[in-house]
Amino acid sequence: MRIDDVRIVGVIGAGVMGHGIAQVCARSGYKVVLVDVNDEILENALRLIRSGPFGLDKLVQKGKMSEKEVEEVMGRIKPTTSTQDLRDVDFLIEAVPEDAGLKKKVFSELDDVCKEEAVFASNTSGILISDLASSVKRRDRFIGMHWFNPAPVMKLVEVVRGALTSDETFELTVKLAEKLGKTPIEANDVPGFFTTRFICCWLMEAIRLFEAGVAGVREIDEMCKLAFGFPMGPFELMDLIGLDTMLHIGEYLYAETREEHYFPPVSLKKLVISGYLGDRRTKQGSMGGWYDFYKIERRKEKSEG
Ligand SMILES: NC(=O)c1ccc[n+]([C@@H]2O[C@H](COP(=O)([O-])OP(=O)(O)OC[C@H]3O[C@@H](n4cnc5c(N)ncnc54)[C@H](O)[C@@H]3O)[C@@H](O)[C@H]2O)c1
Repeated sequence: MRIDDVRIVGVIGAGVMGHGIAQVCARSGYKVVLVDVNDEILENALRLIRSGPFGLDKLVQKGKMSEKEVEEVMGRIKPTTSTQDLRDVDFLIEAVPEDAGLKKKVFSELDDVCKEEAVFASNTSGILISDLASSVKRRDRFIGMHWFNPAPVMKLVEVVRGALTSDETFELTVKLAEKLGKTPIEANDVPGFFTTRFICCWLMEAIRLFEAGVAGVREIDEMCKLAFGFPMGPFELMDLIGLDTMLHIGEYLYAETREEHYFPPVSLKKLVISGYLGDRRTKQGSMGGWYDFYKIERRKEKSEG
């Protein structure tokens, strides 16, 4: 398939990543079929696309889009709970939870539903693409397309070829990412690819230095921001990603590589089993994140001048 043949993009999983990916695709002119397991999740996804913190209304407020264009973008998205509606998609992006068994089950079912020439891409944060591809017959048309949160804002798409991914599929995915306004960069098919391995190592090291008493949570966050210009400190970033997700990633990378720098330190485990899943997850029952657990006051940012 050539890039001009791609007209309809399917997105399965309308959560944190899926709704943002659907927004970017529809804004770039593609028709989007957005699938999730119930109407409530789909309604929430559409609400976020329209008026969430990175939604289309924000672009209207900044004068980058008109109300009419917002309606056109929304009109290109078809929300549905039926996977049968994915039969005509040209390019499918999977964004269901990070569970290899679940992803393989979803792909294997869709292999019978979607047209033969359609390309399947997974937004997995680090499960081997070659492993996920083993669930389908179209292994040459299977690829990793790893987006970042928030999808409408972050520029990188990490593109990962499985052992049997064809050059045609790779080139198509690179071109599609570019058409969507992203910068595609290739990484090898190893657990965690580049970005997840790098970030995991860095975040676990911040926890280890905290546990060793080198500096406090707030101090480490501030040092990273003020010394290195990072927009967020490591503890704030973990709260955003979700502490349960970070624990899962650390355990997975350690199990796969046996490299100790991925091993989750005990204080992360302690927070997760005590119900602290990150401060952005309060709606999912989280009691907060690092700052809440250790009852740390955030220092006010110093304003310039
Ligand atoms: N959250 C992040 O910061 C981030 C960043 C990059 C990549 N990822 C990856 O993206 C993927 C999705 O993560 P997320 O944070 O959006 O998760 P999420 O839990 O917010 O969303 C997943 C969605 O998939 C739906 N779903 C589950 N089973 C389904 C099925 N059988 N059919 C259709 N929908 C189904 C769920 O109802 C949910 O709405 C994961 O692989 C994750 O590792 C996440």
